[in-house]
Amino acid sequence: MMSDTDMSSCRTTAVHGQAHLGFPKTSRNGAYASSRQLQAGRQARGEEKAMINLKVVRNMLLFAGMVCMLFSTVTAWAAARTYVGVEACALCHEKQYSIWKTSAHAKAYLDLGAGAQKDPRCLSCHTTGGTAAFPNVQCEACHGPGSEYSDMETMKNFRKVWDAGLNRQAAGTCVNCHNENSPTYRGFDFKASWMEIMH
Ligand code: HEC
Ligand code: HEC
Ligand code: HEC
Ligand code: HEC
Repeated sequence: MMSDTDMSSCRTTAVHGQAHLGFPKTSRNGAYASSRQLQAGRQARGEEKAMINLKVVRNMLLFAGMVCMLFSTVTAWAAARTYVGVEACALCHEKQYSIWKTSAHAKAYLDLGAGAQKDPRCLSCHTTGGTAAFPNVQCEACHGPGSEYSDMETMKNFRKVWDAGLNRQAAGTCVNCHNENSPTYRGFDFKASWMEIMH
């Protein structure tokens, strides 16, 4: 017969969604499982515990790996990278440049007018990097400072280019500027906005 402990451990197993592994089957006429079946059940539960331990170890390793990746990303970004300017990108990206040139981003600094062009609060979103040294929302405002990735050899190597600072998630940068801190903010719809500046 099954003891209470057996039943509760069966329930625990069932809670984990693996009842078929540990639950001793009842026979057709409703009698409880034989001691042999019970033993098989316990063995299965033991194996299951070992499996769960392995999962814990695996998850810990995964977590450690993620922490390492985060750390190396942060240190990589900390390396001093500077802007090269839109004209430098244009040398090789003529198509993207000609599209950008007609976009609102290319006149973001001009639109500020003389007064606000000296206001650092306005420059933070209307320039690349927050100063008039790189006016307007240039390529690098979204793709990251290009001093280390914009040579031909690095640009052609799609792994190297990320390590050298090309932002993998340029689409994630929009909301850095398109948000409530903009005095003229009237909401932001990524899809529609991207269609307007797509290159
Ligand atoms: C010396 C030429 C050159 C310069 C300068 C250059 N690029 Fe590139 N870029 C390339 C080439 C070549 C590719 C790869 C195209 C391909 O393989 O399809 C590329 C690819 C890219 C990609 C796509 C990468 C990917 O994996 O999705 C982006 C984004 C990009 N460049 C942005 C820039 C920006 C921003 C600048 C200026 C800071 C710049 N590039 C300067 C030549 C250049
Ligand atoms: C560095 C800040 C900055 C980033 C990053 C940025 N924008 Fe902008 N964006 C601006 C500014 C400033 C303007 C207004 C320019 C003007 O009209 O003078 C603007 C204007 C626009 C406009 C013109 C329509 C409008 O709302 O006035 C579109 C479309 C747009 N952005 C799309 C995007 C998308 C899509 C992204 C991300 C892929 C993005 N922007 C990232 C600052 C930014
Ligand atoms: C407002 C943000 C923004 C600006 C400014 C911007 N880009 Fe992009 N760019 C993007 C996004 C978003 C993508 C889509 C791919 C991605 O998410 O990285 C993209 C894609 C690209 C690609 C890859 C195209 C392909 O077919 O795979 C190249 C190359 C590129 N941009 C170059 C440039 C150059 C050169 C400039 C300046 C003349 C520029 N971009 C300005 C946001 C921007
Ligand atoms: C948080 C980023 C941010 C700051 C800070 C910011 N702007 Fe903007 N600005 C934008 C964006 C994004 C747009 C595009 C429209 C929108 O969504 O607000 C824009 C658009 C504009 C426009 C174009 C007119 C229009 O209605 O589209 C003017 C002019 C402007 N800003 C002036 C200023 C002035 C002046 C300041 C400083 C007092 C300033 N902005 C500060 C992000 C910013």
